[in-house]
Amino acid sequence: MERTKRRLLILLVPVCCLFYLSQHHRVFFAQGTFNFGSKLLDTDTLEDPVHGGVNATLGFGAVVAVSHASSPRREGLLWAAKLTGVEITIPPQPQWTEDDLQAFKSKKSSKIDRGSALAWMGHLNALRWFLSTPFETALIIEDDVDLSLHLPSQITLASHALRTLLTPTATLSIPNTTINTDPHFWAAPSTWEILWLGHCNDAASPHHILTHPSLAYPDPHMPPLSSIAAPASDLLRSFNLSDTRLVYKSYWPLCTFAYAVTRASAARILSAYATEGPDGCVAYDVRMLEACRDHGWKCWTVAPELFHHMAGKSEIAALNDVQAKNGSDNKGAQRQEETERRGPSVNIECAARNEGLWVDKEDTEGRRVMLEKVREAGRKGECFVGERGQRTLAGMH
Ligand SMILES: *[C@@H]1O[C@H](CO)[C@@H](O)[C@H](O)[C@H]1NC(C)=O
Ligand SMILES: *[C@@H]1O[C@H](CO)[C@@H](O)[C@H](O)[C@H]1NC(C)=O
Ligand SMILES: *[C@@H]1O[C@H](CO)[C@@H](O)[C@H](O)[C@H]1NC(C)=O
Ligand SMILES: *[C@@H]1O[C@H](CO)[C@@H](O)[C@H](O)[C@H]1NC(C)=O
Repeated sequence: MERTKRRLLILLVPVCCLFYLSQHHRVFFAQGTFNFGSKLLDTDTLEDPVHGGVNATLGFGAVVAVSHASSPRREGLLWAAKLTGVEITIPPQPQWTEDDLQAFKSKKSSKIDRGSALAWMGHLNALRWFLSTPFETALIIEDDVDLSLHLPSQITLASHALRTLLTPTATLSIPNTTINTDPHFWAAPSTWEILWLGHCNDAASPHHILTHPSLAYPDPHMPPLSSIAAPASDLLRSFNLSDTRLVYKSYWPLCTFAYAVTRASAARILSAYATEGPDGCVAYDVRMLEACRDHGWKCWTVAPELFHHMAGKSEIAALNDVQAKNGSDNKGAQRQEETERRGPSVNIECAARNEGLWVDKEDTEGRRVMLEKVREAGRKGECFVGERGQRTLAGMH
């Protein structure tokens, strides 16, 4: 008897879930009026046209890249940004000294290696830069992330889903030909602290989705379900969804590829995680995961992610990373990552850092032609892959 009941419950869960999601689908598709500025975007005259109603900073005050002066990935990132019409700010990083490093590290129980410590300090520097500006929000990205040539459209949909989820009274429509100048493009900054737009899998279970605020929304610019990495693909399959992303209360968000902050949350990170901490910690993203998972920060995840590290590393390796990072030592995993041959970026449709799209910086005419081809394809909602095909650009050639 008891057993039958339990089985029934298990069977009921996905059904309820589907019902819940389909309800939200309906909400999402509902049409309404939108009342933001009526300035039409002329994609032919703008120097950096951005499609789909989002501005060049993706609806944030700024898109801020963590990148040190000699990073070999910087040029690749800037070209990808140019191709997608995204405006990126790279705050200068100080020349960290040995004293800076020692002041950062735990005196007694340090667990962090040098590279991870410097990366962490780079994130803190980006957050401090953001707080030195008047902006309300910022998207922090790492300089080796890949992103889709259709990012602006993906962003429009993701922000719309988040607004719908966090601000139920928001007007329901997908802006298309006008730039959305709503100051709460990403919902009111009081309703969230961290938005995980780029991560290496926030492995929520269907149960988590069911028991926390969540929303499914269609996105035409996604890899086919068969090319999406687990566990995001499993999650979609469990809801019988494809061409659909989910926004949900973060569960276990790992890898700080791209995350948005508000002024309040940036200050909170700087106050809570400005150093390795007395007990030691292997990496910044572990602390960020803990903030969301263990300390009740208001974190929201988009899955599958919109930004992903370029390295074509297996999800098994990513999971090993999780385990290693959860434990004590992730040096091995990191080194493996660095030496791995670049493949197509995980979960990124029509990748902007595809090697076939690279044109040397000095070749201004080549760059002009490439930009034209990419934008021409973009206007038709197509993907321009380039002559060399779909491999990923490491940054320098
Ligand atoms: C982009 O849009 C956001 C949200 O409307 C706004 O806060 C920001 O100032 C805009 N940025 C630019 C450069 O127009
Ligand atoms: C946006 O505009 C394009 C072209 O005008 C149209 O094909 C597409 O369906 C529109 N998208 C939405 C979500 O309204
Ligand atoms: C899942 O999707 C397939 C194909 O669209 C459909 O045939 C099937 O009935 C769906 N299953 C559920 C449980 O909705
Ligand atoms: C990570 O660590 C926590 C606490 O030490 C533990 O409960 C959890 O099972 C660990 N997870 C993995 C994947 O090792």
